[in-house]
Amino acid sequence: MSDSQDTQVLYEVLAGSQDPMIWNPMSEEKLRRAADYLRVDDAERVLDLGCGRGRLLCDWAERFRVQGTGVDINQDFIALARQDADARGVGGLLDFVIADLASYVPPVAQYDIVTCVGASDAMGGFFSAIVQMAKATRPHGRILVGDAYQNDQDLAKRVRAGAENGLDLIGMIHGSDDEWDAYYSAQWRAAYEWGLRYPDRPERERLLERMRQHQVRYVEQGRPRARWVTLIFARQD
Ligand SMILES: C[S@@+](CC[C@H](N)C(=O)[O-])C[C@H]1O[C@@H](n2cnc3c(N)ncnc32)[C@H](O)[C@@H]1O
Repeated sequence: MSDSQDTQVLYEVLAGSQDPMIWNPMSEEKLRRAADYLRVDDAERVLDLGCGRGRLLCDWAERFRVQGTGVDINQDFIALARQDADARGVGGLLDFVIADLASYVPPVAQYDIVTCVGASDAMGGFFSAIVQMAKATRPHGRILVGDAYQNDQDLAKRVRAGAENGLDLIGMIHGSDDEWDAYYSAQWRAAYEWGLRYPDRPERERLLERMRQHQVRYVEQGRPRARWVTLIFARQD
C-alpha cells in the first residue's frame, strides 16, 4: 500500500469516528479564543478551505449565525459535515463543496473571514495559501491559518509574509503538547475502533502497525517536533 493509500485509509478511519473534534491540535478553549481574536460577527460570510467535517463552520453558524462555505476534497468528510450541520440545526446557513484546493479558485473579495486549518499544503503551502486567502477576503476582512512550522525563523518568515501581503497580525495561538496528545489520541482510538469493526479488511494490519509505529516515534522524539500555530491576520486595506 502506498503512502497515499495509507492516507486514504486514515481518512476513512476519521470519517468513521464518532468524535466531532477539530482535526488539529487545538482545544475547545483555543477554538473559542480564535473566534474572539477574529471578532467573528453575526451573519458574516465565512469560507473554510479544507473544512474536513466542518466543525469550525458548524460552531460559528450555531454561535454567530455565520453564512459559511466549506471546501474539501474528501466526499465522506463533506457528507459528515452536511449531516452534522443538519443535526445542529444550521444546515440552512452552510454550504459544503467537494473540490480540490489545488485548482479551486474562490470568488474575489467576497468573504468577511477566510480560514484554513491544517490544509495549506493543498494550496502549495502557507506562503501561497495566505495570498489566495487574502484575495478571497473583502476589504478589512480577516484570515486564519492553522499550520505546523519548524522553528522560530520559519515562524518569523510567516509573520513577515503577512505584512508583505498587506496583512496585519492580530492574533497568534500555539498548540500545546496536551493538544497534540489529544489530536493523536483521537486518531489512535479511531484506528483501534476501526480495526475492531473491520477485522477482515486487508488494510487492517498495516494501518494498525502504522499507528503503533507512530506512537513510538511520537514519544521517542520527545513528542511533537513540529510546532503548531494558528495565525490570525486582518487585511490592512
Ligand atoms: C488535518 S485535516 C483538517 C480538517 C479541518 N480543517 C479541521 O481542522 O478539522 C486536513 C483536511 O484537508 C483536506 N484536504 C487535503 N488535501 C486537499 C485538497 N487537495 N483539496 C481540498 N481539501 C484537501 C482533507 O480532506 C482534510 O479534511
